[in-house]
Amino acid sequence: FQPKVLAGRRILITAGPTSEPIDPVRVITNRSSGKMGYALARAAREAGADVLLVSGPTALPAPYGVQRVNVETARDMHSAVMRSAADMDVFIAVAAVADWRVANSSQTKIKKQADGHAPSLQFEQNPDILAEVAAMPSGPWCVGFAAETEKLHEQAQAKRARKHVPLLVGNLAQQAMHADTTEIVLFSDEGADALPPLPKLDAAREIVRQIARRLPATATQ
Ligand code: C5P
Repeated sequence: FQPKVLAGRRILITAGPTSEPIDPVRVITNRSSGKMGYALARAAREAGADVLLVSGPTALPAPYGVQRVNVETARDMHSAVMRSAADMDVFIAVAAVADWRVANSSQTKIKKQADGHAPSLQFEQNPDILAEVAAMPSGPWCVGFAAETEKLHEQAQAKRARKHVPLLVGNLAQQAMHADTTEIVLFSDEGADALPPLPKLDAAREIVRQIARRLPATATQ
């Protein structure tokens, strides 16, 4: 039995990777199964929230009762999020957004050259969706994720400060990717709270509890 700690709250979640075209048949993407974001969508819904899930390409079905919008590129994800962010109480950015897109992507398939000459790609930076939502005046309460390969505490606290988010969930990238269990640390102004290794749905339920506990009360509560 899950208490409805998020009843009446509107929650926006990004999940999965983004996929940035090089040409019509090739992409650049991040390693992300979407499992953590989908588990959070399910846990938030179980807790009574109205959930909108903006998802990059994954093989996962939308959790029961969750509204899903499918996107491919970081810019698509950015527009889908910005369309509804102002109406939300909470934004949880779980997606592994590609930091760069290919500036010189081709409308037609790039052909292999007989002389072995390889194409050169130029990159430009994608918008930082989380930082932008966190900077909205009277925007939603924001939660970030950070998958790091080293110095988790240092990097996660720095990221939390840089993006101005009250809660940042950190994990070690080597451990979390594609796995069904995860070992997370919650970073907030209360410090660092390390959870034991847990199935992603249990970790998601704990994150939901932590969000509900910290969320400012609404006018009607
Ligand atoms: O800066 P970094 O990508 O490591 O930050 C991770 C956090 O920021 C995640 O919550 C991720 O979903 C979010 N993010 C985003 N838009 C980006 C890059 C990251 O929302 N372009």
